[in-house]
Amino acid sequence: MIFTVAIDGPAAAGKGTISRAVAQRFGFAHLDTGLLYRAVGAKGGDPVVAAQTLTPADLMRDDLRSMAAGQAASRVAVIPAVRAALTDFQRRFARQPGGAVLDGRDIGTVICPEAEVKLYVTASPEVRAHRRWLEVGGDEARVLAEVIERDARDMGRDDAPLRAAADAVVIDTSALDSDAAIGRAISIVQAAIAMDRAHGPR
Ligand code: CDP
Repeated sequence: MIFTVAIDGPAAAGKGTISRAVAQRFGFAHLDTGLLYRAVGAKGGDPVVAAQTLTPADLMRDDLRSMAAGQAASRVAVIPAVRAALTDFQRRFARQPGGAVLDGRDIGTVICPEAEVKLYVTASPEVRAHRRWLEVGGDEARVLAEVIERDARDMGRDDAPLRAAADAVVIDTSALDSDAAIGRAISIVQAAIAMDRAHGPR
């Protein structure tokens, strides 16, 4: 079965938690596309060359989850040649047999507009910053400022800006715990799989 779940949204909205749970529930492969941009930013040197020569080892660095790596990722993510270098890999991943979940910023809009399910996961900046602060610690006001700055850069860029696809289902997790958010996503995917089956195998 070719079946893609595209999960987009701003920083620390809960995309990762939902994506992992959906992938596990349905036996789909999962790709955290933010990790690709984080690895390009962390590699240093010319970001276009870094994107063109990215290796699995680059994705295993243990410093990719830091706030600094997130900022570096969003700076290289505005460069069209960086995005172009990462596109084919993501598209192949999305359409692999057996189903795939990809989370990022442009999955439903650019990488896989044909995705069978598109979710846009969001929450208020304060809730998202609080969740990220619980993970990374430090000064919570500074975490909030960085989240807001990164969202503005991601939404304001010319190439593949962050936005909900017209046919995306929005899940606002501001007042949802992770079980409730996961439950909502799973029921949407379940319904789409049933519909896909009703239309015959591909
Ligand atoms: O985990 P969090 O939501 O904070 O960030 P991430 O998903 O790891 O993404 C880090 C940065 O990579 C984002 O702020 C974007 O600038 C960039 N990104 C992107 O441009 N396109 C994607 N498909 C995924 C991430």
